[in-house]
Amino acid sequence: MPSDHAPETPAAPSHDPALPETGRPAGELLAELARLREADLPVRGGQVTAYVYDTGREAVHDLAATAYLEMLEVNCLDPTAFPSIVALERQVVAAVASRLGGGSGVFTSGGTESIMLAVKSARDARPVAGKPQIVLPATGHPAFHKAAHYLGMEVVHVPVDASFRADPAATAAAITPRTVLVVASAPSYPHGVMDPVPEIAAVAASAGVPCHVDACVGGWVLPWLRDTGRDVPPFDLSVPGVTSLSCDLHKYGYAPKGASVVLYADESLRRHAYFAAAEWPGYTVINATVQSSKSAGPLGAAWATLNAVGAQGYRELAGNAMEAAERLVAGVAEIPGLRVLGEPVAPLVAVASSEPGLDVFVIADEARSRGWFFQPQLSYAGIPPNLHFTLTGVSDIEPLLSALADSAKAARAAGPPDVPADLVEALAGLDLDSLDDAGFAGLLASVGVDLDGGGQPEMAVVNAILDALPPATREALLIRFLSALYA
Ligand SMILES: Cc1ncc(COP(=O)(O)O)c(C=O)c1O
Repeated sequence: MPSDHAPETPAAPSHDPALPETGRPAGELLAELARLREADLPVRGGQVTAYVYDTGREAVHDLAATAYLEMLEVNCLDPTAFPSIVALERQVVAAVASRLGGGSGVFTSGGTESIMLAVKSARDARPVAGKPQIVLPATGHPAFHKAAHYLGMEVVHVPVDASFRADPAATAAAITPRTVLVVASAPSYPHGVMDPVPEIAAVAASAGVPCHVDACVGGWVLPWLRDTGRDVPPFDLSVPGVTSLSCDLHKYGYAPKGASVVLYADESLRRHAYFAAAEWPGYTVINATVQSSKSAGPLGAAWATLNAVGAQGYRELAGNAMEAAERLVAGVAEIPGLRVLGEPVAPLVAVASSEPGLDVFVIADEARSRGWFFQPQLSYAGIPPNLHFTLTGVSDIEPLLSALADSAKAARAAGPPDVPADLVEALAGLDLDSLDDAGFAGLLASVGVDLDGGGQPEMAVVNAILDALPPATREALLIRFLSALYA
């Protein structure tokens, strides 16, 4: 007998306004994707000097896409179910290890995940009393802060020297009984400058602490640059005291995003990256990475890219990118009011202003209106604000230099952005908890940022405001920006 509450006829299915009731045609969906992408920065062509890596070799990128598709639906969750992933990962890791001083490793989704695993291994291999610490140069990548945040650890920041290089003496002084990892970058991203890896690794080894070399951006360009005859100081696992190293294939390996390798000198350190869980009644979990179920697409594509480009191809690509960087450094010296920060060993160049009225954030906006994206970097720890250029195999430096010179001229004429001091003060003292996402979006609108993408905002004002605030306030505001953006 039906209960009083049972409906006599099944309820009509509810309509979800965010999902079509009947599937939409493929052509329409692909057209919508293409339309959405119109607002994106171009991923090819070299006019975007960050985020993307273009070989200029169409066939390589097409092959990577095909290999990605071939592996797309294979799940890396279970290497016994899909032995192809073991074969591919072994080959990719062996190729990277053979150029970077040996060891064994893990294929991961990117630099951040490689660093997360290196940090986890270091923490678990050497338990300490109290919160474990990572000694990190001020120019070290935020992925270490993220790893510390996720893994219940602490970052001990060490200032860099006047040429933005990690300081071995300051590193030694920062090591405590709670230190589980010391970091050096090869090179650090902001200025392309190489830390003195042998000295830092020696300091770590003498304290009995592991040393990670962050070669995420440099690992797949420095060895090839050495082959071209350039002077590349030692930085890899062959350096005594270096215990792990990260190298991103989705940067100078030119593989599609989702490809990095973390190498360990010692296989037992590598095993500390792994995770297994049998405490439930479902399938037993064995993971070498943070992600569990994940597509083998990036692995297939990275394998295909490595083998299609080959050693000779990487030598040529690295040489071209470094020549572009060298030409940029020389060209900037000819542009009044601009200067290069530090001495880059890899194709990463930071350009600052040397003239009080010439604002780099205005230069970035001017360049954007001319079809170029130059990545703004905020001032930090006494290092001035600047523009970052990651040069790649396709960088065409003469048009880039003229865009930079024209933008600098226009920026000089425009003057620095008008940032009311009371606005900065108000933001610094703002009680963010009292604002919801809509309230925060209203605040952004008042400085010209429309979260629905109406026109290109004047980022110079936003960057100048952020630049005037301390890092902790920048972080709090940016988290609210992200929240409002996705709301
Ligand atoms: C030196 C360095 N380390 C780590 C990372 C983080 O890499 P990902 O963005 O792949 O997580 C980057 C990214 O640019 C980097 O340059």
